[in-house]
Amino acid sequence: MARIGVIGAGYVGLTTATCFARLGHTVVCADVDEAKVSALSRATVGAHEPRLAELVAEGLGSGRLRFVLGNRAALADVDFVFVCVPTPTGPDGAADLTFVDAVLDEARGVVGPDCVIVIKSTVPAGTTGRVAAVIDRPVVANPEFLREGHAVDDFLRPQRVVVGAPGPRGAAGREAAVRVAELYAGTGAPAIVTDSASAELVKYASNCFLAMKLSYVNSLAELCERVGADVSDVTEGMSLDDRIGGAFLSPGPGWGGSCFPKDTRALLSTAESLDVDFPLLRATIDTNHAQAHRVVGLVRDAVGPLRGARLALLGLTFKAGTDDLRDSPALATATLLAAEGAVLTGYDPCVSADCGPVRVLPSAEAAARDADGLVILTEWPEFADLDWEVMADAMTGRSVVDTRNLLPPAKVTEAGFHLVPLGRPTP
Ligand code: UDX
Repeated sequence: MARIGVIGAGYVGLTTATCFARLGHTVVCADVDEAKVSALSRATVGAHEPRLAELVAEGLGSGRLRFVLGNRAALADVDFVFVCVPTPTGPDGAADLTFVDAVLDEARGVVGPDCVIVIKSTVPAGTTGRVAAVIDRPVVANPEFLREGHAVDDFLRPQRVVVGAPGPRGAAGREAAVRVAELYAGTGAPAIVTDSASAELVKYASNCFLAMKLSYVNSLAELCERVGADVSDVTEGMSLDDRIGGAFLSPGPGWGGSCFPKDTRALLSTAESLDVDFPLLRATIDTNHAQAHRVVGLVRDAVGPLRGARLALLGLTFKAGTDDLRDSPALATATLLAAEGAVLTGYDPCVSADCGPVRVLPSAEAAARDADGLVILTEWPEFADLDWEVMADAMTGRSVVDTRNLLPPAKVTEAGFHLVPLGRPTP
C-alpha cells in the first residue's frame, strides 16, 4: 500500500483522498482553506455526495486519512502526489492553469526523488509533457471521470482508469504510469496506460462527446415537435443499437455543471490554437446556448407575453442529485426569462437562498402560489409525485412547461393544466 498526498480538497480531491484511503492507502489531503480543513478533520463534509461523509469518518478513524492546512505536509514523505486543483475557464476560453502551476512550483524541492507527481486536474493535451520537462521527477496524467452525485461509486467502481506518461509509449515514464494504475488495483477496473497527451485527451474527448450527444438530442427534440413525433420513442429506438447506447439521450434545458461547459470551451480553444477546425464542437456549444432561448420561447408560447408574468421554476441545480448551481441551465433560463420581465419564484430541494432573479421558497406549492405558469428545469424525482390538484388551487394560470419530460402527463392534464413537454406531442 502506498503513501499518497492529495493537493486540493474540492470534490475531486476529497473523493480521491477518501477513496484511496478506503482502498487501503495512507493519504494526506491538503487544502488552503482553514475552515474546510478543520471541518473535514471532524468528518464534516460540505459536499452533497452519497457515502462521502461516511467514508471520510472511516478514513479518519482508521488513521489512513488526514487533512492538513497548506500543501507541504502532503508533498513530503509520500510516494505519489495527486494534484487536484481547479482549472477554470480563462478569459479566452482556454483552461487557466494558475493553480496547477503554483502547486508544481511548491512541489519542486519538497517531493522526494522517487515520488510520482500525478496530474488529476483536467488539463489541456500537452500540459503534463510541458510540466515534466521542467521538473526533475516523474509526472503522469491521470484524469478523473467522476459524476457529481455518484463520485464515490465512480471512483471505487470506475469503468476505466487512464494513466499517461510524457513521451512516446515505452518511454521512461511508463513505469511510473504503471505504478499509478496499480494504486487502483482494488477497483477491478481496466487500465489504459498511454502517453500523457492521449490520457489528457480522453477526458476532454469523453466530456465533449457526451455534450455533443445532448446537443444532438436537444435539436432532435425540436424536430420531433415539428413533425409530431415523440423523442422518447425515437431515442428508445436509437438506444437499441449497441453502437449508440441509451445513456445521455434525454432532452433537457441544456447541459451544464462544473465540467461540460468548461471542457467544451477548453477543447475548442486547444483546437483553434493548433489550427484544427472543429465545427462539430462549436455547434455543440452554440446549440446549448440556443437551448435556453428555445425553452424561453416554449414558455412564452404557453403563458403569453412574459412582461409581468409570474413564473414558478421547479429545480435550480444543474441536474438532480446535487446542490451545485454552477453553470446551471436552469439559472441561464431564469436569467433570460427575467430579462423579458417575468417575475420568478423557485423551489429546489437542495437550494434555500435566493439565486439571481429567482426568489427561492421552501416548497413547490409555495413557489407556485399565484403563478401564471410553471416550468420544470431539473429532474428531481419528487416533482413527478406532486399533487396537481393542490398545484391548481395554488396557481392562477394553467400552463406547465416540462423541460425534463418528468411529469406524468395524465395526472397533470386531468387537473386542468396545459402541459408542454420537450420533443413530444402536447397531451
Ligand atoms: C460530467 C461527466 O459525466 C463526468 O464523467 C465528468 O468527470 C464531469 O462532468 P457531471 O458534471 O456530474 O459529470 O454531470 P452529468 O451527470 O454528466 O450531466 C451533465 C449535464 O448533462 C447536466 O446538466 C445534465 O442535466 C445533462 N444531461 C445529462 C441531460 O440533459 N440529459 C441526459 O440524458 C444526461
